[in-house]
Amino acid sequence: MRLNFRFPAVALALLGLGLAETPEETRQIAIIGAGAAGSSAAYFLQQFAAQAGVHVNITLFEKTDRIGGRTRTINPFNDPAQRFEQGGSIFVQINQIMYNAMTEFGLSPKAPDTAADPLMGIWDGDRFVFTLDQSSPSWWKTLRVVLQYGMTAPQRAQQLTAATITKFLRIYEPEFFPFQSLTQRAQDLGLVEATGVTGEQYLSANNVGERYAHDLIQASTRVNYASNLAHLHGLTTMVSLGAEGTIAVQGGNWQIFDEMAQRSGAAIALNISVVGIEKASGGSSSRPPYKLQVAAGSTPGNPATHPAAFDNIIMANPYQFSGISAGEGVLQTPIEEIPYVQLHVTIFTSPSRFSPQFFDLPMSAKVPGLVLTTLGQGDTAASGVDGAGTAGFFSLSILGKATNPQTQQQEYAYKIFSPEAVTPEFLSRLLGSTVPSTFTGSNSPISWYTPHVFNSYPKTYPRVTFQDPIVGEGVYYTSGMEGFISTMETNALMGKNVARLIVDDMQGTGSGATAKSRDGLAWEDKQSILV
Ligand SMILES: Cc1cc2nc3c(=O)[nH]c(=O)nc-3n(C[C@H](O)[C@H](O)[C@H](O)COP(=O)(O)OP(=O)(O)OC[C@H]3O[C@@H](n4cnc5c(N)ncnc54)[C@H](O)[C@@H]3O)c2cc1C
Ligand SMILES: *[C@@H]1O[C@H](CO)[C@@H](O)[C@H](O)[C@H]1NC(C)=O
Ligand SMILES: *[C@@H]1O[C@H](CO)[C@@H](O)[C@H](O)[C@H]1NC(C)=O
Repeated sequence: MRLNFRFPAVALALLGLGLAETPEETRQIAIIGAGAAGSSAAYFLQQFAAQAGVHVNITLFEKTDRIGGRTRTINPFNDPAQRFEQGGSIFVQINQIMYNAMTEFGLSPKAPDTAADPLMGIWDGDRFVFTLDQSSPSWWKTLRVVLQYGMTAPQRAQQLTAATITKFLRIYEPEFFPFQSLTQRAQDLGLVEATGVTGEQYLSANNVGERYAHDLIQASTRVNYASNLAHLHGLTTMVSLGAEGTIAVQGGNWQIFDEMAQRSGAAIALNISVVGIEKASGGSSSRPPYKLQVAAGSTPGNPATHPAAFDNIIMANPYQFSGISAGEGVLQTPIEEIPYVQLHVTIFTSPSRFSPQFFDLPMSAKVPGLVLTTLGQGDTAASGVDGAGTAGFFSLSILGKATNPQTQQQEYAYKIFSPEAVTPEFLSRLLGSTVPSTFTGSNSPISWYTPHVFNSYPKTYPRVTFQDPIVGEGVYYTSGMEGFISTMETNALMGKNVARLIVDDMQGTGSGATAKSRDGLAWEDKQSILV
């Protein structure tokens, strides 16, 4: 298929129009940020270049001393043998970049940490509106849902999710991949009808019952995106629901990205922040060379000009947090700032279980080990810090067991997602005994404690246009994907997309045009085939 498109361009190049590079030429490529997107870009650049017989020399700049970005594990008691996911935790088998890489790299899947305790409850700040023993047979679980919410709401939600995912999955197909415009692709795939409205509107338009949406679906959007249904778009809502059959990589998801970076053959520059990009004048080719200002460490001072010049720059992190200043002419399309959720992720260990009293349950009651939340009866669906409502947090979960090296006892490891820092007072009520202001220490029920704040993901307000990946001459940007869908997979997909665009450009083949011009079929025709 591809060859059909490339052939005319190859012929043009032979005619001396200079659209393609001579095979000996080496493209100098800088990638800024070694998270999912940057590592994937490096990995696929190497692969696509090798397949095409062209040469790339990749330098991967990362301001921290590790690869993985928002995908990272944490070690209780600083014991490297014990690990829990702190950021990006779960993915699904249809996430083909993640899944295939895991398999190819010989990494093993495991059940996500959040499955550690089978009892799940949805808390609204006053009471559990729904509880479910996830280890019970599936007919029983279905029955429990149906008895409380009826048959149609869960069924419609499931159908809607499946249909939306089917539309999305076409993005991997040759006729939709690669893409120069995410806005165009979102339209081609028929997904703007989901991104253009709130989750609440999308569900209601598709006749998913309000109670079910409010309790179960909102519990998912809150745990996955720290957002109520009124404050994120329909596509992100569907992604939250698509989290069935979830897996994680044994030992940490970041290993996928680490392995991608290693296998890419890139020069990996850890502990180096890029603080500036300058467009240098002149140069031998028609493409302008770029020079980078770099500084040591993640709190950079004393920038210096990196000795190498680059033909391509891939900015693989949210620009607004990158601390990069782009010089004159670097960005031909401005990069829009989008609001991100500031999420507090608190992980701690304790021999105690959650106190039934915290949830107004009798002392003998079994408290769910996975507590999801929804809005309470008097709550308005706010965004940001107030978004958690009466519950005050998005989720509480038991991640599993951890061994306390001091006592050699197994304890519970917990994770809390909240819009504000967790207080000792809150933890005291939650665990039913006093937590000191130092959190740990003698007499504290908490033996190990680590809070972390992430700019975790965008607040995906409804929108129908997205930041496209080409932002300047030879300059690419991956994080526009986050306003569409923010996951490890989709950011890795954007990295792969940019890699394909660059290698196609090296071969002098235009790529990533609209679906319409690529195969001559108008989208209108396609829709009637798909729907
Ligand atoms: C708490 C939490 C839970 C999540 N849960 C899930 C989940 O279950 N499943 C899922 O799929 N996704 C999840 N996500 C989202 C997922 O982790 C992210 O979408 C994805 O990891 C982002 O990848 P990225 O490469 O685009 O950006 P990042 O991971 O942010 O990587 C960017 C990298 O660039 C580096 N950098 C930034 N500026 C510079 C600079 N100037 N110079 C050099 N380097 C720089 C950063 O240090 C970082 O390493 C979660 C995120 C969070 C925070
Ligand atoms: C590859 O890039 C590095 C910069 O990281 C540069 O020093 C080196 O000369 C380049 N090598 C080639 C063969 O272009
Ligand atoms: C990065 O910096 C940290 C802290 O300064 C240091 O401990 C670590 O060894 C450095 N890593 C690399 C790869 O240079």
